[in-house]
Amino acid sequence: MKTYTYKKSQELFEKAADIIPAGIYGHFSPAPLVPVTDYPFYIEKAEKAHFWDIDGNEFIDYMCAYGPMVLGYNNPVIDKAAEEQRKKVNCGTGPGAVMVELAQELVDTVPIADWAFFGKNGADMTLYSIMVARAKTGRDKIIRLKGGYHGTAPWSQSPDHHGITFSDVKDIVLGEWNNYDALEKYVTQHKGEIAGIISTPYHHPTFEDNEMPAEGFWQKVENLCKNEGIILIVDDVRTGFRLHMGGSNEYFGFKPDLIAFCKALGNGYPISALVGTKDMMNAAANVFHTGSYWFSAEPMAAALATLREMKRINSVEKMYKTGTRLNEGLKQLAKDHGYNLKITGHPAMSYYRLTDDPTLMLHQKWCGEATKRGAYFTSHHNWFISAAHTDQDIDNTLKIADEAFKALKEK
Ligand SMILES: Cc1ncc(COP(=O)(O)O)c(C=O)c1O
Repeated sequence: MKTYTYKKSQELFEKAADIIPAGIYGHFSPAPLVPVTDYPFYIEKAEKAHFWDIDGNEFIDYMCAYGPMVLGYNNPVIDKAAEEQRKKVNCGTGPGAVMVELAQELVDTVPIADWAFFGKNGADMTLYSIMVARAKTGRDKIIRLKGGYHGTAPWSQSPDHHGITFSDVKDIVLGEWNNYDALEKYVTQHKGEIAGIISTPYHHPTFEDNEMPAEGFWQKVENLCKNEGIILIVDDVRTGFRLHMGGSNEYFGFKPDLIAFCKALGNGYPISALVGTKDMMNAAANVFHTGSYWFSAEPMAAALATLREMKRINSVEKMYKTGTRLNEGLKQLAKDHGYNLKITGHPAMSYYRLTDDPTLMLHQKWCGEATKRGAYFTSHHNWFISAAHTDQDIDNTLKIADEAFKALKEK
């Protein structure tokens, strides 16, 4: 099996590094892609569950644009809906009627939702969610859980990050995933001061095994919030519509007050949403939060089509099955080669780690070997399955993964 080279990607990155801070910044930064020479940087085109880099190499994509791609790149149903709306109006002096239709679709799809509010990015909605919680309760403090990611707004970053000050986070308290007792203790100590608790529905940090909620964790947190007048916020930005169409809380059996969605909502069109219960609606209306492109109608039409298409094809079940097949295949392959592949999280977005080397170097090497043979695997982040991944894609991936294991041994 031929391995890829990335001459054009590397040359373009060198040019970019002179004129763009960090060359490629944020979650697309090559920094965590180790060995970096095994990865492409720039994408030429994409179709279904595949993309091609600017050197002409083809990949089966297991990152799905880090989540947004859920129904396949260039999905004709979604693109047609978006295109028809764009021809009428996209960015206008007021929203399109599609905004109301989309809000209705979300209200009809997500059991806790009595209303929906739209923005562009996940961080727009997680920020808005804590503003709404504060407006509702008249309290300042927000609890978030260590290792949880909610975007780049200063409140959600660590004060030791560049550009963040202690005053940005003075009302942010860190809890711990699956540690209910610590959470309860803190809430008791600061009775009447906590506006909201925000968390992802399960723990999916980077560079670490992912963790499902312990039995009863969410139900206890929900009760605590109800008893203490604390707003419970689920950050479903990454997980939303991959575990359950009604919000990932439905998958885990609990009811928050607010849910933030983004990623899979628009199949790549820029849109995010905060949904909430009736009780939260006045507070949501009182908070001022908006943006130049937040009312663009094209992504709203795309999101409407995406929600309907996800339901029509039962994408949640399809991704679960595809992910399970991939996981079983990879686990067996690892075993056949004398390794142990630990797989955590949900099958539609699992995190993988070869446990034979605690430093991650072996795992990084394996992911790199697979990537340069055409299955784009990252070693630091959960992967994503889409409804466009076919059985043939999985078969081809397993062949590539097998070759990658052989290459590990040779080296
Ligand atoms: C759980 C979670 N919340 C919030 C965000 C922030 O979303 P965005 O990058 O669109 O602002 C992300 C992005 O990866 C995320 O995974």
